[in-house]
Amino acid sequence: MEDARRIEPAGGVFRTGVRIPGDKSMSHRALVFASLAEGDSEITGLAPGQDVASTALALQNLGMKRTGNRFSPPHIMTEPEGPIDCGNSGTTMRLLAGSLAGTPFRVSLTGDASLVSRPMGRLIAPLGALGVEVETQPDGTGPITTGGAQIHGADVSIGVASAQVRTAFELAAIQADGPSSIDSPAGYRDHTERWLESFGLGEADDGTKMEIFPGRIPGARYDIPGDPSSAAYLWASAALVEGAHIVTPGISLNPGRLGFLTILERMGATVQGEVTGSIHGDAVGTVEITGGSLQAVEVFGDTVAAAIDELPLVAVLAAYAEGVTIVREASELRAKESDRIASTTAMIRALGGGAEATEDGFAVIGTGFLDGGTVDAVGDHRIAMAAAIAATAADSQVTILGASAANVSWPSFYKTLEAVWSSQ
Ligand code: S3P
Repeated sequence: MEDARRIEPAGGVFRTGVRIPGDKSMSHRALVFASLAEGDSEITGLAPGQDVASTALALQNLGMKRTGNRFSPPHIMTEPEGPIDCGNSGTTMRLLAGSLAGTPFRVSLTGDASLVSRPMGRLIAPLGALGVEVETQPDGTGPITTGGAQIHGADVSIGVASAQVRTAFELAAIQADGPSSIDSPAGYRDHTERWLESFGLGEADDGTKMEIFPGRIPGARYDIPGDPSSAAYLWASAALVEGAHIVTPGISLNPGRLGFLTILERMGATVQGEVTGSIHGDAVGTVEITGGSLQAVEVFGDTVAAAIDELPLVAVLAAYAEGVTIVREASELRAKESDRIASTTAMIRALGGGAEATEDGFAVIGTGFLDGGTVDAVGDHRIAMAAAIAATAADSQVTILGASAANVSWPSFYKTLEAVWSSQ
């Protein structure tokens, strides 16, 4: 089959350092902040994949100008001729639903087959409270329309720990006629909250509530740190090999991104971290992982949101661990680029492991080994890359069908993985 890739097991103990490409969540945000800013912004280290390219292109179609790393906001937003294509990127669609709320015209946002099957109805109530009419399809999916609103301040509380929904609300709320606030369950990545606070446009309390003050984002400089959700693949690979060692400098250490490191530590890997800097109040640092023998864990509560994109990797580690790993309270997995409860358990079983889907998560039986085999990535970048990591210590090769799905977040992933494994 076209687009199939065969990954041979790592074959030894590797020790190396890797600079990870820019963080996807922050790249989307830096672009959207730049599009709303009062002056030019400078962005370095943007994430390389198609998802961030979708946000950049959408904003350029609305009149943002780019010269190298310099981004100039449109003086007046250009009305696009047709729907804006968000590709495979849920973050693009949800963030733009909020940031474009105040445009003088209605904008339609669409995407690929996976994106237009994902839940967008969750934007309707919080943005609606601000006076923004978000229209979805009757079943709450995309394409959606937004824009053309007179935005009033409002106080809302949402039932999911979704950073995307919070960000959409906050980016609309800075355009309102008065202060607003949003609250939600904990565990979300709070990049937007920290950046708005650093620009004097909001104030977070000690818990999960954020107040937003109307105002303009200033032109600013964003040096995007490495993406912990990408680094996680290499961390997991090192964790699977006793004595293997990976050093990743310049990674985002936002608390809402640390769930996977917490899980790795609880499973028995050695995790070392050091804060070396920050980006607008959001910590950045070095992470080092050393592999050891792994134990099963139970994952639930705030850790779920803080590790949401890494849970397919938790299943891979769990297959090689001792005991039964349980992930629960994670029904959000069903709303990702694929139904990740189904695709994660199918991946483990395709490789000879034992995994069961539950209503709100999954269970994986740790046998200490995987046979290898063929995994269908079902168009989901995180399943393609997790399957490659499953090959690390497998008894035979892993073949990934639809391996190029990795391009949405990390186009050079397989090349990097090969280089890491040959650093022995
Ligand atoms: C993201 C938030 C998370 C995450 C996604 C990126 C973001 O989604 O899964 O990959 O950049 O805000 P939710 O906000 O839906 O939890």
